[in-house]
Formats: sequence, structure tokens, C-alpha cells
Amino acid sequence: MTGKRVVITGVPGVGKTTVIEESMKRLAEEGTPYKAVNFGTCMFETAKAEGHVEDRDQMRTLDKDVQKELQRLAGKRIGEMEGNIIIDTHASVKTPGGYLPGLPEWVLAELHPDIVVLVETDDDQILMRRMGDESRRRDPEGSRSIAEHQGINRAFAAAYAMMTGCTVQIVRNDNYLLDRAVEAMTQVLR
Ligand code: AP5
Repeated sequence: MTGKRVVITGVPGVGKTTVIEESMKRLAEEGTPYKAVNFGTCMFETAKAEGHVEDRDQMRTLDKDVQKELQRLAGKRIGEMEGNIIIDTHASVKTPGGYLPGLPEWVLAELHPDIVVLVETDDDQILMRRMGDESRRRDPEGSRSIAEHQGINRAFAAAYAMMTGCTVQIVRNDNYLLDRAVEAMTQVLR
């Protein structure tokens, strides 16, 4: 295995994919290329092929054991990739049965992350971004529930650091301050 493995997480709608895309452009210009892999897309490709779901937002309502098997397969595929890799995923996934760890031990063992990044912003900003995105089927929840999810993600990230020795970094992506988030993220990735 060569290169750096950076796991980037954040609650749905915090803007992690936006920050990743902009950071990768900047790093490619500097001569530090990264490949970004969306963990949810890897899971979805298998889930759809096996007839479990029609769209990616249905995955978090699947049976817990099915989600775990999809995670394992995605972890294995990504773990075999070479070079600098960004893994766009979730520290925890809110399921009807409770918070499911996005990176359980058997996934961490495949990924060997160097860093886990938490992209965060204020709960009400996330709520507004979700309400403005009609392309996705977001779970209906208020800002208090989003705050709880962001707190759980920090706790899970600490557990991942204890299990693997990786570092944990928090990058804020505040409204209309995307440039600051990209600057902070590129520093983490360099
Ligand atoms: P995933 O594909 O990660 O979907 P998601 O969580 O819904 O993430 P999005 O890509 O929709 O949101 P984002 O936070 O990246 O925000 P975006 O950049 O689009 O996961 C899909 C599913 O896969 C999960 O639900 C789960 O079921 C499954 N999954 C994934 N990983 C898993 C794992 N490890 N284990 C188990 N299951 C897993 O931005 C949102 C909006 O905000 C945009 O409109 C954007 O323009 C705007 N915006 C961004 N930044 C700013 C800013 N600074 N100011 C103003 N607006 C901004």
C-alpha cells in the first residue's frame, strides 16, 4: 500500500463533497494528486446490483446486517487501491435502529486511515442546506437532532483513533466561507 489515506466525514449536507472537490483541484495544481472515493457509492453499486435499493438514500433503512456486509465489501475494494486516497464517508450513519458506525473494526482494518477528518458547521446551517437540496431524500430532522449527530460523530472518530492510531482533525465549512474550509482541508491533505 502506497500513499496517504484520509477519511473525510460529516453529517449529510454539511458540504463534505463540495470541500473535497475544491481541495482536490487545488492540490492537483500543486502536484499532489488525490483520488476521491465515495464510500456510499461503492456500497450503493453492490446494493443496487443485488436488488436491495433503487436510490442511495434508501440504504440507511436496510437491515443492519445487510448494511454491514455492504460496508465490508466497500472497505475491501477501497483498501486495495493505491496512491493518495480520500474516502468520502460517514463516522456514523443514522439508521432506524440507532447510530451505525461508518468504520467498524473490520472496515478500519482494510482502510488503514492516516487521518479522520470531521467536516462540521452550525446545526441550523446544515438544516438550511438540506432544505435547499431537492435532489436528495433527506431524513426529516431538526437542528437539535443534527447537533446530536455531530456530537456522536466526534465520539466515534475518537474511537477510530484509539483503534488505529490515526489522527483526528476538524474542518469547519461555514456558510459562504468555503474558501476557508478548502484552505484548512488542503493543509490536512498536503
Ligand atoms: P453520501 O454519498 O456520503 O451522501 P450524504 O451523506 O447525503 O452526503 P452528500 O454528498 O449529499 O452531502 P455532503 O455533506 O457531501 O454535502 P454537499 O457537498 O453535497 O452517503 C450516502 C449514503 O451512503 C449514506 O446515507 C449511507 O446510507 C451510506 N454510507 C456512506 N458511507 C457509509 C459507511 N461508512 N457505512 C455505512 N453506510 C454508509 O453539499 C450540500 C449542499 O451545501 C450543497 O448544496 C452545497 O452547494 C452547499 N454548500 C456546501 N458548502 C457550503 C458553504 N460553505 N456555504 C454554503 N453552502 C454550501
